[in-house]
Amino acid sequence: MSHPSRAHLDAIGIPVWVRRGTVRATQSTTPSPEPAETEPAEPSAFRAAMDPASPRPGGTDATGPSVRQALESIDAQVRECRKCGLHRTRKRTVFGIGRPDAACMFIGEAPGAEEDARGEPFVGRAGKLLDAMLAAIGLTRGDVYIANIVKCRPPRNRDPHADEIAQCSGYLRRQIETVSPRLLVATGRVAAQSLLSTTKPIGKLRGRIYRYGEDRLPVIVMYHPAYFLRSPLEKRKGWDDLVRLRAMLSDHAAGGP
Ligand code: URA
Repeated sequence: MSHPSRAHLDAIGIPVWVRRGTVRATQSTTPSPEPAETEPAEPSAFRAAMDPASPRPGGTDATGPSVRQALESIDAQVRECRKCGLHRTRKRTVFGIGRPDAACMFIGEAPGAEEDARGEPFVGRAGKLLDAMLAAIGLTRGDVYIANIVKCRPPRNRDPHADEIAQCSGYLRRQIETVSPRLLVATGRVAAQSLLSTTKPIGKLRGRIYRYGEDRLPVIVMYHPAYFLRSPLEKRKGWDDLVRLRAMLSDHAAGGP
């Protein structure tokens, strides 16, 4: 596996210690302006894993306009949804964004204020850090698909309640079935606990592969980028999760689990 470039570690705020007299350690949270280092040399297996043309569990074909149309039709139902009380306070529903045929699908918790205003997931500060984390393994948000457990913002960004998650779960399940990714990334405690139907703390859930649904889609658990905004010294764990994610995508391309 290739090593991350210093620019990408800088971008997610992981300090890089180098010999005195070369380049100084840094903890910046903004991408470094060093174009030569912004493209890590990815193993070909990883690139192949991101190729939607390679085989998927269940043999579904996620390419073509029908997938886009199916997603639009679920989105239209979500926009009209009044199944739980969150519809009363939302400005906009936040369905999902990214490649309709993505190999990898990130699932966060719920929209925040900025997402509620724009109707798009992960566009606030945590979203910017998620973008930087993706860039650290050579991906953009356009390479993956991003959605949330619930599609409407809980007031004052509280955790979504169990009944709100339950009412929204059918939309998410259909979204996952339609995109048909090869890997789900549960981003944060709420996403991990609700996708895996567990109450275990996130620290205990990381580092293993779980399975979701009838196709036994692999799921990995990562800390939420908002956690790293609150606790920047923990970002090394985020990097470990990204390395695991990249390895899994490579394994899939090579015919692994
Ligand atoms: N946090 C999430 O979990 N999802 C978003 O869309 C934004 C912030």
